[in-house]
Amino acid sequence: MEPYFHLKGSFKTSSPALEARGDIEKFIEEAKSTILQKGVPAGRGAKIIAWEVRDSSIFFDIESDRYLRAHDAFIRLRKPLAGMLGKKYKIGIRGAEVEEFTVKLPSERELSQTKIPYVRGTGFTDGMITLSLELGEAELENKVPDRIISLIEDKIAAQSFGGKAEHWSLLWESPKKEMKFSGDPTVEAEKRGWIKRAAGRGQWIHGAQMTHIFRTFEQIVIDEVIKPLGYVEMIFPKLVPWDVWKHSGHAKGIYPEIYYVSPPKTRDPAFWEDVIDYYKVTLEVPLDLIAQKIDKPLGGMCYAQCPSFWPFLQGKTIADDSFPIKVFDRSGTSHRYESGGIHGMERVDEFHRIELVFIGTPDQVLAHSKQMQECYKHIFNDILDLEWRMAWVTPWFMAQEGMTGLAEKKDVGTIDFEAPLPYRGKEGEWLEFQNLSVNGDKYPKGFNVKLQSGKEVWSGCSGVGLERWASVFFAQKGFEPEDWPLKFRERAGDIPKSIRFM
Ligand code: SER
Ligand code: ZN
Repeated sequence: MEPYFHLKGSFKTSSPALEARGDIEKFIEEAKSTILQKGVPAGRGAKIIAWEVRDSSIFFDIESDRYLRAHDAFIRLRKPLAGMLGKKYKIGIRGAEVEEFTVKLPSERELSQTKIPYVRGTGFTDGMITLSLELGEAELENKVPDRIISLIEDKIAAQSFGGKAEHWSLLWESPKKEMKFSGDPTVEAEKRGWIKRAAGRGQWIHGAQMTHIFRTFEQIVIDEVIKPLGYVEMIFPKLVPWDVWKHSGHAKGIYPEIYYVSPPKTRDPAFWEDVIDYYKVTLEVPLDLIAQKIDKPLGGMCYAQCPSFWPFLQGKTIADDSFPIKVFDRSGTSHRYESGGIHGMERVDEFHRIELVFIGTPDQVLAHSKQMQECYKHIFNDILDLEWRMAWVTPWFMAQEGMTGLAEKKDVGTIDFEAPLPYRGKEGEWLEFQNLSVNGDKYPKGFNVKLQSGKEVWSGCSGVGLERWASVFFAQKGFEPEDWPLKFRERAGDIPKSIRFM
């Protein structure tokens, strides 16, 4: 079944256009084979099924398929019609009005969410979702109908995927390894006093030993990836305002997982005195009172790490000799509101990650991704001696926008690095412990970054999750340094002593 668009709308005229009726008819007849046929397969597109010259408007009733959508046809008519009326009759077109606009889209199911901006009503009959839109000239000009339609199409696609089925296909797999441990590494690390649950949700205090291991991992990444590939360190902001997430695409999807940040309405101590006094007297933090004194969230805590870097390049043209750009950040935590229940250190609301960002021409970016994969292979095979695999998955930027499937360009996408956790059993889900992506032109486009030579700009990034590395390493190798691969032991050196509690 084909999508169907039906629009009834009129152009307001500066004076009655009745005298121009004959010319309008001629214009419309001609438009059918010219204006409305441009770029449209023969016999397809939009049809004017009725029209009328009214007192101070010209009315159109337009029906279409997907080749030239009714609303686009309506907009296409405006300028040439105004030109003809102006030249011959000194009549201007003063505005447009949409009286009725119905869109029908094929779908197996009806929509589960029907509160959509500018959509007055929805229905479902004979395998078609029907939407009646209520919008004006400004929305037409701003392409609101197109965005509503792609929104609905995305929802239809998501519904038929069952919403969650993400793409996954195996790229590479290590040989099986002998596992040295069968316990839950979080439980064991807690028992040994290497980590302790923090006061916050999904948050840990990492003791000296775990921190030492994290730093050892970091040093491995520095020695084996960052230095050989020529990365330089930067510091990316960790509080992300909406504007960044609008450009990065995150504003399309991450709302259920953001840690929101609200500033105080004012920093005037007098404004806060009642909160302070209330606490001093009751020793309770007056949350409702605080809620009245803070502003709406200005954004959230770092989520994907690389988006905050991009304003550094935003709107710039980069000199050819600065390419490819390779920068990394390890300056702070990332935060995600994870699903409920108690998780170990493999699923946390606050985590530590090294993020590597590379930017270049498409060739440079693809070649760099290959080199980086080799560096990682060396680490996981020769230093950490892990059982692990690489899989081609839905790009993280699409997943974070709430989309499934694969990117349109086939070199663009994410590689997940996954490893089995013996304590979860043979059938247990493998843990994603890092990723590496070619993000195509998504970020350069989103932040308007160009290259001196005019060549296309692509980017990629890789997020190395330290909690995830630790979860995998300890799950497979355990906590006794004698069981660790020699190359790792050498790098780790002496593990600090625990604090003794009495
Ligand atoms: N930015 C990527 C992500 O969020 C890599 O860290 O997955
Ligand atoms: Zn990234």
